[in-house]
Amino acid sequence: MALPKNLQDQLRLPVIAAPMFLVSGPNLVTAACRAGIVGAFPTLNARTLDVLDDWLSEITTTLEDLKRSGANQIIAPYAANLIVHKTNARAADDLALVEKYKAPLVITSVGHPGDTAERIHAYGGIIFHDVINLHHAKKAAEAGVDGLILVCAGAGGHAGLMNPLTFVAQIREFFDGIVIVAGAISNGQAVRAVEVMGADLAYLGTRFIACKESMADEDYSGMLVEAESKDIVYTDKVSGIHGNFIRQSLEQAGLVDGAVLNDDEFAHVDEKKKAWKQIWSAGQGVGEIQSVESVETLVSELESEYKEAKAMH
Ligand SMILES: Cc1cc2nc3c(=O)[nH]c(=O)nc-3n(C[C@H](O)[C@H](O)[C@H](O)COP(=O)(O)O)c2cc1C
Repeated sequence: MALPKNLQDQLRLPVIAAPMFLVSGPNLVTAACRAGIVGAFPTLNARTLDVLDDWLSEITTTLEDLKRSGANQIIAPYAANLIVHKTNARAADDLALVEKYKAPLVITSVGHPGDTAERIHAYGGIIFHDVINLHHAKKAAEAGVDGLILVCAGAGGHAGLMNPLTFVAQIREFFDGIVIVAGAISNGQAVRAVEVMGADLAYLGTRFIACKESMADEDYSGMLVEAESKDIVYTDKVSGIHGNFIRQSLEQAGLVDGAVLNDDEFAHVDEKKKAWKQIWSAGQGVGEIQSVESVETLVSELESEYKEAKAMH
């Protein structure tokens, strides 16, 4: 299906800067929205509920001011990402704050959306749910979400193993809502390819980690510039769920060779302390990151590549 008109009109490019733990905060979100793409952040990046309240207020005010000033052509809406897994003790309180600020878009991940869709729809919001397989996609569709985010092979974070070409086709057999594709999308041609495949939006995480406005530190950004696709290791030994991590950061944490970890090596990981903070995640698109750029520069690059590809296909 085509994107709802109100969403389409608010986007310069069919792109979401995906939410990333310890990476996306208000600066990245507002820079993305200002550049005309959806900016998203995991609510858990705000360490307390008071901080989350401040972040949501800051993002809302900044975007309203930008729209009012008329200085920029398109100001995209933002998305709040809720981890709906039962181990997330903050899920209910974070959802209440998202409702308070009427976040225009909500992305639920790591679990079942439950009654979240109803609650988001009640204030007029749009909800997308993150999935890695057809089984979970069907359950989320039944729960009434507006869009499905297909997290495919090679994605940063907790990636799946599905190939996007067939994943999109099989989702389209039962779902006519918004389809969003994630996984190693790092250039404007790939953004266009997502539309050609029959999906609506591209979801880019890794490409935004090394942006100036992200919360990633210099060492992490430097490693992203250096790392190549072959350095990405798919393992469940870091966080308990399969995900993609950078070999060099596994080595820095004392995991020899960074090859696929075995249980003995896992015993060396102080799980809570090191996962995400010191063992850094990235998708296979890391091989396309050559420098640290501002969000606006990156989005302008994506836009010219996208337009060129669209003129041809
Ligand atoms: C460092 C990092 C942290 C992430 N944290 C989250 C998260 O907190 N919530 C979530 O839904 N997805 C998270 N993701 C997944 C992204 O939202 C997105 O699905 C993924 O980055 C897309 O693939 P790409 O990195 O190849 O572009 C994370 C990804 C990375 C690289």
